[in-house]
Amino acid sequence: MSGQREPVRIFSGIQPTGRKHLGNFLGGVQQFVEGQHRGDAVYCIVNMHATTIAYAPEALRERVYDTQALLIAAGVDPDKCVLFRQSDVAEHGVLCWLLSSVTAYGELGRMHQFKEKSVQQRDLVSTGLFLYPVLQAADILLYQAQEVPVGEDQRQHLELTRNLAQRFNARFGETFTVPRIRVPKTAARVMDLQDPTAKMSTSARGDAGTVHVLDDPDTIAQKVRSAMTDSGREVRLSPEKPGISNLIEIYAGIPAVDRRGRGAIRPNDLWPIQERRL
Ligand code: TYM
Repeated sequence: MSGQREPVRIFSGIQPTGRKHLGNFLGGVQQFVEGQHRGDAVYCIVNMHATTIAYAPEALRERVYDTQALLIAAGVDPDKCVLFRQSDVAEHGVLCWLLSSVTAYGELGRMHQFKEKSVQQRDLVSTGLFLYPVLQAADILLYQAQEVPVGEDQRQHLELTRNLAQRFNARFGETFTVPRIRVPKTAARVMDLQDPTAKMSTSARGDAGTVHVLDDPDTIAQKVRSAMTDSGREVRLSPEKPGISNLIEIYAGIPAVDRRGRGAIRPNDLWPIQERRL
């Protein structure tokens, strides 16, 4: 025996939809970069998940490249991790189907993300949207991931993944590693700057409360300055002060190197775009 421990297997995914925002960066991508230096990291651009709501094929194809460029600009290094497009590995769909036989219908109906997204669909609530968490479980279990770095909003999907792995193992014999969630210590759930009771997202609410990673510096400064805060002058973390608490979390979540005495968050600090051939 060499005595050397196997590196931890890390897996995570990101959708190539919408405009990526500060929540995605602090909750997800920043952890991707950290993980590639610590373990055996596999990251996936989940374009099949993106087909669960209305989409234009051409635009989706382009967005996969945009997302890849953003990840690389943020420091995800294909020489240090595996970075790939979900639809290039057909087994994701195959395992999703096999896992569906150990997934209860009622379990999927209780998923918060399904409930939120299904009411936003105008024409059709697809079966794909319902099965979204099963495909996510397949992504993770396929690679025997031990650790899944995500934002707090993904906790319920991770709990389902663990349940499906355990159920499958109990029924068919030890097959899958039961993964654990890894959320960042700060800014695990970045809230909307205009409505600190709702999570920051690319939603129909409008984008005054969402800092997009490609917003220009003036727009970002403007959004942060006009963030909704709470009554009273005290600056402290508290559930009674969701607005200020959100700003403190964001400030704490941004790497120290990007905070040196500068007034505004600058996109080049968040996504230090380097000239690289993709
Ligand atoms: P996506 O693309 O919607 O989100 C990517 C990452 O961003 C995190 N995130 C947030 N973190 C903090 N505050 C927020 N307001 C916020 N909004 C989003 C998400 O938690 C995520 O880490 N379902 C996944 C995609 C996926 C996946 C997987 C993830 C598909 N298969 C397997 C892990 C493992 C998602 O929501 O992507």
